[in-house]
Amino acid sequence: MSADYEVRGDVAVITLNNPPVNGLGYATRKGVTDGLERANADPKVKSIVITGAGRAFSGGADIREFGTPKALQEPNLLSVIAAAENSAKPVVAALHTIAMGGGLELPLGCHYRIVAPGTKVALPEVKLGLIPGAGGTQRLPRALGVEPALNMMVSGEPVPAELLAQVPGQKLFDKVAQSAETLLDEALALAREKADVRPLPKVRDLPAKHPLGDAYFQFARNTVGAMAKNFPAPLKCVDAVEAATKKKFDDGIAYEREHFINLMWTPECRALRHVFAAERAASKIADVPEDTPKREIKSVAVIGAGTMGGGITMNFLNAGIPVKVLETKQEALDRGLATIRKNYEAQVGKGKLKQDKYEQRMALLSTTLNYDDIKYADLVIEAVFEEMGVKEAVFKKLDEVMKPGAILASNTSTLDLNKIASFTKRPQDVVGLHFFSPANVMKLLEVVRGAKTGKDVLATVMALAKTIKKTAVVSGVTDGFIGNRMIEQYSRQAGFLLEEGATPEQVDKAIEKFGFAMGPFRMGDLAGNDIGWAIRKRRYVEKPGMKYSKTADKLCELGRFGQKTGAGWYDYKPGKRDAIPSELVNQMIEDHRKALGITPRKISEQEIVERLVYSLVNEAARILEEGIASKASDIDMVYLTGYGFPLWRGGPMQYADTVGLFNVAESMKRYAKNPLDDTQFWQPAPLLQKLVAEGKTFNNV
Ligand code: NAI
Repeated sequence: MSADYEVRGDVAVITLNNPPVNGLGYATRKGVTDGLERANADPKVKSIVITGAGRAFSGGADIREFGTPKALQEPNLLSVIAAAENSAKPVVAALHTIAMGGGLELPLGCHYRIVAPGTKVALPEVKLGLIPGAGGTQRLPRALGVEPALNMMVSGEPVPAELLAQVPGQKLFDKVAQSAETLLDEALALAREKADVRPLPKVRDLPAKHPLGDAYFQFARNTVGAMAKNFPAPLKCVDAVEAATKKKFDDGIAYEREHFINLMWTPECRALRHVFAAERAASKIADVPEDTPKREIKSVAVIGAGTMGGGITMNFLNAGIPVKVLETKQEALDRGLATIRKNYEAQVGKGKLKQDKYEQRMALLSTTLNYDDIKYADLVIEAVFEEMGVKEAVFKKLDEVMKPGAILASNTSTLDLNKIASFTKRPQDVVGLHFFSPANVMKLLEVVRGAKTGKDVLATVMALAKTIKKTAVVSGVTDGFIGNRMIEQYSRQAGFLLEEGATPEQVDKAIEKFGFAMGPFRMGDLAGNDIGWAIRKRRYVEKPGMKYSKTADKLCELGRFGQKTGAGWYDYKPGKRDAIPSELVNQMIEDHRKALGITPRKISEQEIVERLVYSLVNEAARILEEGIASKASDIDMVYLTGYGFPLWRGGPMQYADTVGLFNVAESMKRYAKNPLDDTQFWQPAPLLQKLVAEGKTFNNV
């Protein structure tokens, strides 16, 4: 049983007991209905308390049951709530710590609610592309008021119970307990006080009204529609809450159910549920068991105080971990420190960081020019110039000075981690930590697993990633790791599209309409077109047979590196970031086409999007096949958290699954016939062909 039952004098206490957060799985639901039945049948019992054991009242549905028949097995959540509401004896819900989703809908079906201070309350279903499905949309507006209830549903964010208890006229909480410790005693007292009060109060009997009526819902639709573009669930919350104000309670419940089920089948909901699972899956490594011993990381050293070193440092300071930054020259340290200060001061200026917190963080930061000062650090992260010779010198020195057991990490974005590890006599301690720029902002962290990286090192850095609030994805050693290896193909396609007839603006617009935060050319201008130029120059030597459009090189030869030089693929007004289509660039592209003898053609938006997105997919399939990524969902996490792929599409692999892998492969074969493109590249990757032949999806990989 995942719910306990005991009788204390004349009150029955049902305690949800399904660690870690008392998810409302089958056994717990059954435990509650059995407990209610038993209490109602026992003449000694006058009233009932429902509470939660351990770290939560309840976090809602049990995610372990998602997608399994158990999730729907009777008693389902609606039946449990009905059993509480229809109990002949009063039922008091005693909430503490967390009451979310079904964990709030169940109390709303109880007759009374008492809450411990500090409890976080939420209806977070929109985060999975859903609306609350167990009466939340009908009962919360009645208990709390239409507007605050809708705000909670649309944001999905947790709200402190004390705040809700202050909402004028609210009936959500009958009482705020003195403390979590006294909650149960106070709940028992409330249960005894109400034992003989009849009729039993039910939230369903309360009215749901907004003083502005239709005008309010019109306003809500406008605001929510603008905020939640591409996500249908938030607008459906508005509809359902409006139904609560207009329909009879049971009709409102039926309306909620119908829309809940409809939403379940939308691509957006499937994508969000996929992302929810993908995020959890990314932190698990098949051959590194969860109980792998971890090393303790209490202090960090960062080598190099440049663009990346500074941002990396901030992550650890934010998490309360002291950092010592090492550089070759005092000026470089001063510059790096000044940038960190400037970043924090900007946050203080915007009211996002309190002055004392800023000072606390800066107090954790120290600098040095001497390796002796960092030798006791538990983790050292190298972020020096991207040159093997420089990395070699640094890692040889680290091997010499660092204490045994220290983790030696490199932030290299392109170099061979195994080679870097070979500069030391402890390759098991070496790992790649590939942060993305700006490192203090971007969520993604590619954890690069070298051939000899120790399992305890991997387990440690995966846990550390959580501490510094990053989404960590493991990548094997390959040029560009997962993300940049794929983006290179995407950039090549963008170049071919220009040669064949598109303008930078057309390409950017098409892919931005698809949902990318920024198209490839605006992105290039932001990041600096010289970065790609340097990589291509290396490629021309390493892979002379690889086909590239030369338009980007011509752009760089003109010194148009992007925003930092005031001009790139687009023109920029001084000090402004708005991309203005450039006549000069368009002319340059046209001249280039002429020189190649290419007659430009009109390229459809669909072709632009397919070639950009499917190039990611095909390269990703190869990455999967080579074992560089261990699951397709990891690749989705890389693209969602590091490359601005639209969340509602769930990542490139999930998107390909949605389109259908057969269709994706057929399009690739069509593009393979285009002589101006890289025909070899467009041969569908063997893994993709295999999945098509077996009628499977990437989700099966
Ligand atoms: P940067 O040029 O801004 O900073 C490098 C810093 O390292 C400079 O301050 C330099 O004085 C210092 N340095 C050089 N040699 C040193 C040595 N022997 N000992 C101590 N300090 C030394 O470079 P950035 O952009 O920060 O890149 C650093 C590393 O991060 C590179 O490996 C790069 O590939 C990688 N990376 C860069 C990204 C970016 O967007 N800039 C993204 C992800 C990784």
